Amino acid sequence: MRTKKDMIGSWLLEDNRHHLESLWKQADDIRRESTESAVHLRGLIEFSNECVRSCTYCGLRCQNRCLPRYRMTLPHIMACAEIAHAKGYGSVVLQSGEDQRVSAEWIGEIIRQIKDTYPLAVTLSVGERPVEDYRLWREKGADRYLLRFETSDDTLYRRLHPHDRSGLRRRIELLHVLRALGYEIGSGNIVGLPGQSFMSLAEDILIFSSLDLDMIGIGPYIPHPDTPLGREDIDFCQKDNRQVPNSDIMARKVLAITRLVCPEANIPVTTAFATANTNGYEIGLHTGANVIMPALTPPDYRKLYDIYPSPARKMEEGVHERIMTAIYAAGRKPGCGPGNRSRKSAVQ
Ligand code: 5AD
Repeated sequence: MRTKKDMIGSWLLEDNRHHLESLWKQADDIRRESTESAVHLRGLIEFSNECVRSCTYCGLRCQNRCLPRYRMTLPHIMACAEIAHAKGYGSVVLQSGEDQRVSAEWIGEIIRQIKDTYPLAVTLSVGERPVEDYRLWREKGADRYLLRFETSDDTLYRRLHPHDRSGLRRRIELLHVLRALGYEIGSGNIVGLPGQSFMSLAEDILIFSSLDLDMIGIGPYIPHPDTPLGREDIDFCQKDNRQVPNSDIMARKVLAITRLVCPEANIPVTTAFATANTNGYEIGLHTGANVIMPALTPPDYRKLYDIYPSPARKMEEGVHERIMTAIYAAGRKPGCGPGNRSRKSAVQ
């Protein structure tokens, strides 16, 4: 019998254009049947680019001394939340590097002020923190937490995250902890990481399903010249060594397959996905995605939130308008309200 993993594996290796058209269509059909048709918008506030980590692929790594660091003030963050509300978004995402100098109490205060002022859902994406911090933030009203596991290959994970003593297992454990605390949980991976095999990529998708994730972020690996991994010379075209390419089409396959196996999850067109594809937002919306996260970070900071090189990040104006155009061009509408994960199949 053909298992789910066989199905995932054969789609990952599929190169026939006509067959792939049918994959995009299946993903789009399942998205239409299993989620609301509206595209939910999450205002992304990248409030600090300080980071204590050494992830070898990420431009925010603490060893990247070329990057000027910033930390936004609370009034500045509130001004971004105001914009999210004024534009009709139903939620904001507070994201940062692993900035251990921001206290749990300070983040708690941001959450409290946003929840007291606006009817916005609040998502946090600030990395690994003590469980007590997660508990406090939940008490202050945070609704959702994003923590990507990046790759399910333990050896690759360790290579990508040197000095990280807790490892992949801990990250998965934390997702369970966050769920038990009552958060909607999100995770995700990077497609085409140097050393990533097709088998491990299939495993990533199976883990999305077994964790029953509410949100799943997928994007292609984009080399950053100021990182150890970005300086390596990698031959992404060599098929026989089973290196997953970091191409737009590969990321698109992972997005579509994820929609097949996680029909009800909220799946954004990530910035990395939109960066790698021309018309990326529209393509993502036709391939199973139902969420977009427009950045609301003020342009001077946004330029410095340099996870990977992205022309989108340098475009100061017009992100909102471009996203709206893509939504209508895809025949959809922007959503209202917080846009929780749908549970159509749940027993009433
Ligand atoms: N290419 C693509 N995605 C990256 N991320 C970090 N660095 C890169 C890169 N070079 C992703 C990680 C992280 C998210 C915020 O950005 O998955 O969780």
